[in-house]
Amino acid sequence: MKYLLFTIMIALTSCATAQNVELPAPQTEQKSLSMVETLKTRHSVRDYDKEKSLTLQEISNVCWAANGVSRDAEHRTAPSAMNRQEIRLFVFTEKAVYEYIAPENILEFKAEGDHRRIVAGTSERMQEFVLDAPVSLVMVIDLEKFGMEGEKARMFGCVDAGNVSENINLYCQSVGLATVPRATMDEEAIRALLGLGEKQIPIMNNPIGYAK
Ligand SMILES: Cc1cc2nc3c(=O)[nH]c(=O)nc-3n(C[C@H](O)[C@H](O)[C@H](O)COP(=O)(O)O)c2cc1C
Repeated sequence: MKYLLFTIMIALTSCATAQNVELPAPQTEQKSLSMVETLKTRHSVRDYDKEKSLTLQEISNVCWAANGVSRDAEHRTAPSAMNRQEIRLFVFTEKAVYEYIAPENILEFKAEGDHRRIVAGTSERMQEFVLDAPVSLVMVIDLEKFGMEGEKARMFGCVDAGNVSENINLYCQSVGLATVPRATMDEEAIRALLGLGEKQIPIMNNPIGYAK
């Protein structure tokens, strides 16, 4: 009986996260610092208040700022080479991992559990502070979406990922959130977790939270 109850509890907890999440509409009229003030003050943060998580509204806002649908259905907040929109954005939380699907404004469920450690780094290079940030956004170049391969395509992918990452940097600074753009992460573990192939390249990540 005890075992049965335990199993039901585990199943219920899994159901709570093992599904897609509908995001609230991004707050595009939100109060924020001016662009010039944001540029003047933007800085990397590596010390996060681990007691302060992000609301779903905040996650929606930051995903939208990163690479959401902008002036019309065909365009994004971040520019991309030939408008191929090949940067995919994965959201690592304390509970699960999702992919942000901009046109639907949802988080598509990818994996159960807290996998922020593989974003923090490898045994050779680990940045523990990442575990204090409630959310990490991981950018993946998808060459299949880009429709081209080779060095040039990879270079465009890197530039486009930089655009997404800088959107996150500037947005966070403008609304009082904290972040740092990072290349460190356990690329192989991320590939394995997300089922990525050779044409998908984890390239950058941004932990996000509140500064301590
Ligand atoms: C491509 C790139 C990779 C980076 N990788 C890391 C990283 O792995 N870990 C880290 O703590 N900071 C990383 N940074 C942040 C830089 O160290 C930081 O932007 C730089 O020191 C300037 O500081 P500022 O952002 O406060 O102006 C990276 C920045 C860029 C642009």
